[in-house]
Amino acid sequence: MQPTTERSFSFSSASDLDLLFDFLRFRSVSTNPEYGPQMRACAEWLRELLSQGGFAAEVAETGGHPAVMARGPEVPGRPTMLIYGHYDVQPEDPVEQWTSPPFEPTVRNRRVFARGATDNKGQILAHVLGAIHLLRSEGTLPVNLIFLIEGEEEVGSTNLDDFIRARRNELRCDVIAISDTGMVAENYPTLTQSLRGIATMEVIVRGPGTDLHSGIFGGAVANPAAALVFMLSRLHDNHGRVAVPGFYDDVLPPDPVERATLARLPMTDADILRESGAPALAGEAGFTALEQVGLRPTAEINGLTSGYQGAGSKTVLPAVASAKLSFRLVPKQKPDRVLNLVEIYLQNLLPRGVEMEIVRGHGGLPYVVDLRSPWCAAALRALEQTFGREPALVREGGSIPIVQTFHELLGSETLLLGLAAPDCHAHGPNENFPLESFEAGIRLNQALLKEVGTNY
Ligand code: BES
Ligand code: MN
Repeated sequence: MQPTTERSFSFSSASDLDLLFDFLRFRSVSTNPEYGPQMRACAEWLRELLSQGGFAAEVAETGGHPAVMARGPEVPGRPTMLIYGHYDVQPEDPVEQWTSPPFEPTVRNRRVFARGATDNKGQILAHVLGAIHLLRSEGTLPVNLIFLIEGEEEVGSTNLDDFIRARRNELRCDVIAISDTGMVAENYPTLTQSLRGIATMEVIVRGPGTDLHSGIFGGAVANPAAALVFMLSRLHDNHGRVAVPGFYDDVLPPDPVERATLARLPMTDADILRESGAPALAGEAGFTALEQVGLRPTAEINGLTSGYQGAGSKTVLPAVASAKLSFRLVPKQKPDRVLNLVEIYLQNLLPRGVEMEIVRGHGGLPYVVDLRSPWCAAALRALEQTFGREPALVREGGSIPIVQTFHELLGSETLLLGLAAPDCHAHGPNENFPLESFEAGIRLNQALLKEVGTNY
C-alpha cells in the first residue's frame, strides 16, 4: 500500500496542470478498503484547493468514503447551481497493460495518461478550476455555486442517497451540472440526453463440499462451473436479446424520431467497432450499435470465476463457481423488478446436484433529461460558445444513478456535459484525457456559470 503522504501546496503558485497531476497521483480506488487513507487524503486535498480558491469547503462524512462539499460566495437573486463529480477511480488493473504507471500522470501526444484522468478527476477539476479562476478575476460568481464531489461513485454511491437526504436543505439548488459522460468525438460539444440505469448481482453456484478429484468423482457429481455456464449461456437468445421472461415488459418500443436522431450523430458503428478493438460488432439484432448502447437494455457478465486458473492443468472438480452480472436498464425498467425476474429465471434453469446463492449489488434508475428546460438551453449555449459548433445530443449507455436521486430528493434537473473522448479508455488500461479537453473544460465551466447565472 502507498503511504499517505501529507501533500501541502499553495494553490496560487501551482499551474492548472500541476494541480491535475497532484490530483491524479492519489490512489483513490474506492472499491479497495486498503486505499481508505489515500481516499481521505485526496478529499482533504480537494477541500484545501477549494478553500484556498475562495469556497467554504468541508470534508463531509457519509458513512463510507467522505465527500467534499463546498459553497461559493452568496449572490442574492441568482440561481443556485450544484456541480457534482467524483474523486474515486476504478481499480488500475490489468496494471501490466499500462504504458506508464497508472498513478504517475504522464503526458504523451498532448494527453495526460493516468487512472481517473477522464473519469472523473480531469473533468471535475476543470469545473473546480474554472470556478476558482472566475471568482478570482471577477471577485464574485454569476451563480450561487455548490460543489459536491463524492468518493463512492464507482461503487454505486451507496452512502450518498442518505447523505443527500440528510443535508437536502443545504444542497437545494435550481440546477445540477455534471461532466462525467462522453463526447461523440474529441472536442465535439455534446449534451447527454439520457443515461441507462443499472442492476447488479453475483451468482454463486455450490456443489461438493470441497474441490474433488475430477477422475474419482467426475461424472457422478455435478460440476458447479458447468452448471453456472449452462445458466449464463441462457441469458441471451440467438438474436442477442435478453432471454429472461418479462425483461422487456417495461421497455418502450424504439421511437423512430429517436432512431433518426442517433443515425445523424457524427459517430458511427464503424467508430464504435474501431474503439472497441473487437473483431466485429454483435448484440441485439435489428439495432445499430448506437441504438444498442443508447436505447436498449442489456445483460452482461462482468466476471466469472471457478476452478484452477494457474499454469498447466489440474484435474479438479471445483466446489464453487461464481459470476458477477450487471444489467443496463432503460426508462421504465426498475432494478428490483429486473433482478427478481432474473432470479426466478436462473432458479428454473438450475441443474440438479448444485445449489445457487444470489447476492444483490447496487442498482440505479435510468435518467432522461428534459430538453425543454431553460437550463438545457443555457447548457447548449455554453457548449456552443466553448467549442464553436452546435452541440450533439446523445443517449449514453453508462449510468450515473445519483442523477435520479438528485431529481427525487432535490427536484432538480441535471445537465450532463461530459468531456470524455471516445478513446479515453475509462475503466481500462491507459486511461487518458487530452490537455485540450482539460483547458476546454475550464472554459466550459465559466461559460456555463455565466449562461446559467444571467440568461435563464
Ligand atoms: N462516468 C461514468 C458513467 C458514464 C460512462 C456515463 C459512460 C456515460 C457514459 C461513471 O463514472 C461510471 O462508470 N459509472 C458506473 C456506475 C455504476 C458503478 C453504478 C457505470 O456506468 O458502470
Ligand atoms: Mn466510471
